[in-house]
Amino acid sequence: MIRLTRTDLDALPAYVAGRTVPGAIKLASNEVPYGPLPGVVEAITEAAANVHRYPDMGVVALREVLAERLGVDVERIATGCGSVALAEHLFRATCLPGDEAIYAWRSFEAYPIIAATTAAVSVRVPNTAEHGHDLPAMAAAVTEKTRIIMVCNPNNPTGTAVRKAELDAFLDAVPDNVLVVLDEAYREFVTDPTVPDGLAAYGDRPNVAVLRTLSKAWGLAGLRVGYLVATPEVTGAVRKVVTPFSTSGAAQAAALAALRASDEMRRRAALVVGERERVLTAVRKVYPEAPESQANFVWLPLGDKSAEFGAACERASVIVRPFQGDGVRVTIGTPEENDAFLATLP
Ligand SMILES: Cc1ncc(COP(=O)(O)O)c(C=O)c1O
Repeated sequence: MIRLTRTDLDALPAYVAGRTVPGAIKLASNEVPYGPLPGVVEAITEAAANVHRYPDMGVVALREVLAERLGVDVERIATGCGSVALAEHLFRATCLPGDEAIYAWRSFEAYPIIAATTAAVSVRVPNTAEHGHDLPAMAAAVTEKTRIIMVCNPNNPTGTAVRKAELDAFLDAVPDNVLVVLDEAYREFVTDPTVPDGLAAYGDRPNVAVLRTLSKAWGLAGLRVGYLVATPEVTGAVRKVVTPFSTSGAAQAAALAALRASDEMRRRAALVVGERERVLTAVRKVYPEAPESQANFVWLPLGDKSAEFGAACERASVIVRPFQGDGVRVTIGTPEENDAFLATLP
């Protein structure tokens, strides 16, 4: 048979999106359930009048607002079609074929796919027994070929977070020529003060890049806006490999409107956090091994029972995210949605 496509992709698991089942409650994609933030729909509607034009390729207005909010130079910010695209751009910008990328496992399921498609070699470091990153083991896994390390904090899908003291020691141990990416997609849900804000704590380190997104707490998952804060060298390289115009005009306008509604974002994130603690307390009565979460989801380490648990939830019209062999991730929804999930527990 004549093959037109790469044979190595046959072995690559495809990204599995959280399922949407009409009429069912979706707790499978770590979205916030409260709709777009105030002003966002109006901004998108206004931007719609200009969709026959290409957007601002430099994403200047949005990058300037982000720079101002974060207290960094605008050159240090790059935006992308969701932070997942930026993660891919970072791999492209750092790895030549055969170079090594280290990440914890289990972690965000896009990492192995990105590594494989960018021809980097995945070095997966198993999580600790408590389902968190094993940072000493990740530091020990660095070789001369290592170019990039992903630290997912809090970790998707386990919700666990690494603390400042352990991250300090890890960053001190990693060589200066290896880029450490702090993937902080869930930063807005962190309540433990010992979990560092990557930018505030490590923004001055040249080999640290911080990834954030407007998909989760900011309610823009459907428009795809993520951003990266790094040195001008790194953001400049990312801008070279980015697909041109990948932050659409509607996305830029919506992001600006969402950022103006930060008080409401914080109010909603606090609701999610309150529910997270309520759900976790109830879950732990049945599954005491469920780890604490610093994100907008909880993790049930059900191992081989994960698919079965997911199917039982689905029969009750609640869609969760099973990772067979490891566990089940359940996104925090509205109180009513969470009650529907809790009602499925044995
Ligand atoms: C850890 C982590 N990073 C990045 C992303 C990508 O989010 P987005 O591309 O919507 O910004 C996700 C989404 O699930 C995630 O869990």
